[in-house]
Amino acid sequence: MSRVVAITGASAGIGRATALHLARSGSAVVICARRPDKLEEAARSITDVGGRVLAVPGDVTRAHDMERLVAAAVTQFGRLDAMICNAGFGIYGEIDRITPAQMQQLMDVNFNGTFLAARAALPHFRAQGSGHIIVVSSIVGRRGIPFMGPYAATKFAQVGLAECLRAELHGSNIHVSVVYPISTETEFHGVMMDHSGFATRASGPRQSPEVVAGAIARAIDRPVPEVYPYRLSKGLAVLAAIAPGFCDRLTNRWRREPVREVRR
Ligand SMILES: NC(=O)c1ccc[n+]([C@@H]2O[C@H](COP(=O)([O-])OP(=O)(O)OC[C@H]3O[C@@H](n4cnc5c(N)ncnc54)[C@H](OP(=O)(O)O)[C@@H]3O)[C@@H](O)[C@H]2O)c1
Repeated sequence: MSRVVAITGASAGIGRATALHLARSGSAVVICARRPDKLEEAARSITDVGGRVLAVPGDVTRAHDMERLVAAAVTQFGRLDAMICNAGFGIYGEIDRITPAQMQQLMDVNFNGTFLAARAALPHFRAQGSGHIIVVSSIVGRRGIPFMGPYAATKFAQVGLAECLRAELHGSNIHVSVVYPISTETEFHGVMMDHSGFATRASGPRQSPEVVAGAIARAIDRPVPEVYPYRLSKGLAVLAAIAPGFCDRLTNRWRREPVREVRR
């Protein structure tokens, strides 16, 4: 269906795959990220398949950039139907090894970036009488795992914001969905290794960004509160609520412990 969808963090990974998926099925996509060359590359991959795309370079930590993103979508395509708050990154490590500056950066991008993108879209959705905010959190935004505390905290924060907003907007035609991907094959793990200064052993199930993109596209077609692109992972969310001690033992299987230093 023809919608206009803005996506932050669309120069790579889940954001880029989602933009391509939506454009292929007829939506106009307005893509945003900091690296203009990568963003242009993503835009070309969409025009190559006949899709409609507008690239708006920007940083989710800047309120003005998010307001500019929404304004550009409306100017170019006449409306905005959905805002996908997807930009994010991670840092591994125990909390006493993460610097206050690193923690601040994680919060600025993952949480504040979500807040600023949603905040920029909302007045437009209210005036239009419809809209959809999609927040890309993580399964670690439902249940933390060892060595991922600071990152998981930002992912839980996104969920809190989204849950309140969803309840506030109940009964309106503005929807809020939270997406909980598991480990996904994107640039994410390389970026996280660079920020953390060490590599970890990959363990546990993985999925492709295309699987996450498909799940997001279905949620846009039929809005639901929560999206678990890897279905079994919903079980972890339930277990976390009813058996937290058991979850402590279970999540030790997926601990992101350092296995080797990497040069920064
Ligand atoms: N991959 C996983 O295992 C996994 C699992 C669960 C959840 N997630 C979540 O999924 C989302 C997307 O991650 P991904 O796996 O697709 O990672 P990715 O391949 O590293 O892509 C991250 C995207 O975010 C953009 N970005 C980063 N900081 C930004 C900023 N300040 N302003 C604007 N854009 C920014 C990057 O582009 P620029 O560098 O060009 O700005 C890039 O386009 C994140 O929120 C992540 O937490 C990922």
